Amino acid sequence: MVKVGFYQFYPEFGQVERNLGRVLAALKDVEADLIVLPELAFTGYYVRDRAELESLADDPRQSATVEALTVLCRQRDLYLVTGYAERQGDRTYNSALLIGPEGLAHTYRKIHLFGTEQDCFDPGDVPLQVHEVRGMRVGMMVCFDWVFSEVARTLALKGADLICHPANLVLTYCQQAMITRCIENMVYAVTANRYGADRRPHGEIAFTGQSQIVAPKGDLIYRGPADRDDLAVVEVDIELARDKRIAARNDVLANRRPAFYGPITESAGM
Ligand code: ACM
Repeated sequence: MVKVGFYQFYPEFGQVERNLGRVLAALKDVEADLIVLPELAFTGYYVRDRAELESLADDPRQSATVEALTVLCRQRDLYLVTGYAERQGDRTYNSALLIGPEGLAHTYRKIHLFGTEQDCFDPGDVPLQVHEVRGMRVGMMVCFDWVFSEVARTLALKGADLICHPANLVLTYCQQAMITRCIENMVYAVTANRYGADRRPHGEIAFTGQSQIVAPKGDLIYRGPADRDDLAVVEVDIELARDKRIAARNDVLANRRPAFYGPITESAGM
């Protein structure tokens, strides 16, 4: 059994150090193997434009925030998956970082950008991957990636047992949809969402909280509140994600018929 969970909170827009302080304080005594934090957990979400985003983002390979999170991972013998505004030269990505006691282990860059993110971030350019953490095979996706069922499917086909899903959810469908993602792929998923709102001079965006942990047959192990901080950790049996049979004679991966799925891999023409 492994212990996985999330920390749901209300990042203050632009207050990277203050948000980091809140995360470090919330997790200072945590007992877990892996904790997931929300999308863009340190910068906040609703940037005005690309220039503002660039002023907040940094390179996670040379980042005081990632260094502090690595120290926490060492102290608590913990892995973290966190949303992160990643800057690489003139490119900026809405990323998820896997951080452990040895530091930054992997960076995933959100493939499917939502709404005004498309004006500010560059779309992800690294393949979906799975990483071994404490005997679990962990895949990452970010928020709106949920709506493209191909993402969770690809991670499952690459062997993921657990999908870590930092989010800043605006629409109300995802929490239910992730239950289906878990059924159709027989995986665990931890969706770490934020709550509250980014109230900016150019407008306001509110987020839905209700972070959750779902088991391979779609059992909702835990769902948090919509409007307050929540640190949740549960024990999960990764073996349940290795048996892909949804019924005695039906395996959700082995019984696929890709010969009939051609349009899925055709270009969307964009
Ligand atoms: C979203 O992808 N943050 C809605």
